[in-house]
Amino acid sequence: MTEAEEVDFEIDPEDLEGGPVVAAPSDHLSLLVNDLHVTYRVFGAKKVGHGPGDKQGPLQKLLRRGARQPPVREVKAVRGITFAAKHGESIGIIGVNGSGKSTLLRAIAGLIPPAAGTVHVASSPSLLGVNAVLMKDLTGERNIMIGALALGLTTKEVEERYQEIVDFADLGDFVNLPMKAYSSGMGARLRFAISASAVPDILMIDEALATGDAAFRAKSKAKMDSVRESAGTVFLVSHSLGTIQNMCSRVLWVHEGKLVMDGDPEEVCGRYKQFVAESKKAAKAKS
Ligand SMILES: Nc1ncnc2c1ncn2[C@@H]1O[C@H](COP(=O)(O)OP(=O)(O)O)[C@@H](O)[C@H]1O
Ligand SMILES: [Mg+2]
Repeated sequence: MTEAEEVDFEIDPEDLEGGPVVAAPSDHLSLLVNDLHVTYRVFGAKKVGHGPGDKQGPLQKLLRRGARQPPVREVKAVRGITFAAKHGESIGIIGVNGSGKSTLLRAIAGLIPPAAGTVHVASSPSLLGVNAVLMKDLTGERNIMIGALALGLTTKEVEERYQEIVDFADLGDFVNLPMKAYSSGMGARLRFAISASAVPDILMIDEALATGDAAFRAKSKAKMDSVRESAGTVFLVSHSLGTIQNMCSRVLWVHEGKLVMDGDPEEVCGRYKQFVAESKKAAKAKS
C-alpha cells in the first residue's frame, strides 16, 4: 500500500458531526436507551372518496399512482424514552393498550429503526417468539435446525437441545410435517421455543405474542429465571400486574409513548392501578 492510500480509522467523537454522542454501556450496563423515538408510517390509512361503484383495475391504479400520492399518516408510537438497564435486572413494562410497549421492545430488538435517539446494547437482544424466522414449506424439524443456528447455536448445541425445543413447543408428531400444516398456536409455540433455545444476555417477552396457557407461562418463567441467573437482563410486557410484581425487580410505566414512571414494582403498579381506576371513573362520568 502506498502512503497516499493509507486511511486513519482512529476518530475522536468530537470530530464527528451531528447527533448526540452517547457513551457506550459500561461493564455494569447491558442496555442504554437514549431519547428513543419510533414513528410508524401508515400508507393509505384513510379511504379517500371511492364509492363502491368505483373499482379500479391494476392499470388504473398504476396510472393514478404518480398523479396523486396515497395519504400517509404518522403514528408516533414512542416519543422520547430514556433509561439504562443493568445485568441481572428483570424489568416489567406496563401501560394501557396502544401506549407503545411492544414498539419499545421491537425497537430495542432492532426490528424497527428509531426515528431519533439511540439504543446501545452490550449484546444482541432476543425478543422471544419473534426473532426466529420460520419457513412454511419446511418441517418443524428443519425449522428448528435452521432457526437455532440463526440464533447463534452450534450444530452440536442444536442437536443437544432439539428434544427440549420439541417438548417446549408441544408439537408431538407435527414436528415432521411442513409448518403450513400447523395451527397458528402451534406456529407461535414453535417460534417461541426456538428463540428460547438460546440463552441470550437480553431476553424480552411480550405476553401479547405468547400463547396464554398456564403450562406455557410456567416454561417462560423458567426461561426468564435462567437468563437472570446467568446475569442477563429480562424485559417482560404483561397486562397482569400480579405477574409483573412476582417476576420483576423494576417496572417502567409507559403512556402515550413516554415514560411516566420507572422504579419499584409495588410503587409503580400501585400508581398505575390508581390511574386506571381514575380514568375509568372519569369515562363513566362522561357517559
Ligand atoms: N405496525 C404498525 N403500524 C402502524 N401503527 C402501529 C403499528 N404497531 C403499532 N402501531 C401503533 O403504535 C401505537 C403503539 O402500539 P404498541 O406498541 O403496539 O402498544 P402496546 O404494545 O402498548 O399496546 C399504537 O397507537 C398503535 O396503534
Ligand atoms: Mg403490545
